Parts: sequence; structure tokens; C-alpha cells
Amino acid sequence: MYFMDKLFEQIKAEKLADNIFKLIGKDWMLITAGSPADYNMMTASWGCAGFLWSKPVMMTFVRPHRLTYEYLEKSPGFTCSFFEEEHREMLNLCGTTSGRDINKMDVDGLTPLETPSGHISFKEAKLIIECRKIYFDDVKPELFLAFELEKIYPTKDYHRMYIGEIRQIWERKK
Ligand SMILES: Cc1cc2nc3c(=O)[nH]c(=O)nc-3n(C[C@H](O)[C@H](O)[C@H](O)COP(=O)(O)O)c2cc1C
Repeated sequence: MYFMDKLFEQIKAEKLADNIFKLIGKDWMLITAGSPADYNMMTASWGCAGFLWSKPVMMTFVRPHRLTYEYLEKSPGFTCSFFEEEHREMLNLCGTTSGRDINKMDVDGLTPLETPSGHISFKEAKLIIECRKIYFDDVKPELFLAFELEKIYPTKDYHRMYIGEIRQIWERKK
């Protein structure tokens, strides 16, 4: 585990210079939950960041059969970690292989980092958004207003949405 302040500086949500649509939808992120001794992460490209209940928030959408879902259920919070392009292969691996089949704590090119509040992220990240879970809900097909959305769920594994209050944003020092 590396000491965060050497590598990262804290920034306010409104000072985030990167485009959040690109960060989530194109760069992708790792959602990580658990403890230093036992954590799991998965690649995600669906999610949102914004302002809700007078708080900066991050929303993630996780299907119930992901191992990361189990870790999210047990954890008070999670991190969303973003990486430079050179880490795409790692993101592909974490997005196509479950922690049920490999030990994701041993994935090459990732060095775990414990934040001061006990969340897990990685030394190689360029940006870390650290969240406290404050709300969840499950996608409900009976509430779809656009019926094409049902096609996203042929096996009816509707995502669970977690809303996390953003507690810290850490940006890699230049
Ligand atoms: C680019 C990309 C984006 C993904 N986005 C999501 C997502 O937003 N939500 C989700 O539940 N799964 C998403 N996945 C799938 C999970 O990352 C994948 O099923 C992963 O193997 C789950 O790992 P786990 O079982 O260790 O949690 C995505 C995969 C890729 C490659």
C-alpha cells in the first residue's frame, strides 16, 4: 500500500477538468469495493456524476451476478478509478473476467492503494473518485418509458444503482 499524498492531490468536484462523459463512457473506470485484505473490482462504462441532495454524487450500475456486487453490498463505500490509455488491457481483463475465476487482487499492473478513509484504489490511477454509499435502487422493467431498454436485459438481470456521495476526488500529481 502506498501513501496517497505523495502521488495524488485532492481536488473539489467543481474543479474536475476532465470531461466526465469521456471519463466514464470512453476511458472507462474500475469500481472497487472491499478491504485492503479482500477487495474486488470490475470495469464499468455506465454511470453518472452530478449533484443531488445538495451533495456531489456518483451513480454506478452493477448487475447482480457480478462479484463486485457482493463486495458493494458489504461495503459502506467504493471507489471509481480512471486510468490512462496504456492501462486499457487491464481494463479489458477486469471487464471480461470475474473475480470468481481469478483473484483480481493479483491482476498485473495494479498496485493497491488504501485511502485515508479505508477505501481501495490503485497507484496507477490518474483520477480516483471516492464515494460513501447513500442510496440504492434496482432497475425496474415496469418503469421503462422507452421499451428498447428491455433489450438490454434478455436474462432480466437488472442493474442495481448505487448512489455514492463523493467524499474525495484524488488527481494524480503532474
Ligand atoms: C467496457 C466495459 C464496461 C462495463 N460496464 C459495466 C457496467 O457499467 N455495469 C456492469 O454491471 N458491468 C459492466 N461491465 C461488465 C463487468 O466489468 C464484467 O462482467 C466483470 O467481469 C465483472 O467482474 P466481477 O464478477 O469480478 O465483478 C463492463 C465491461 C466492460 C468491458
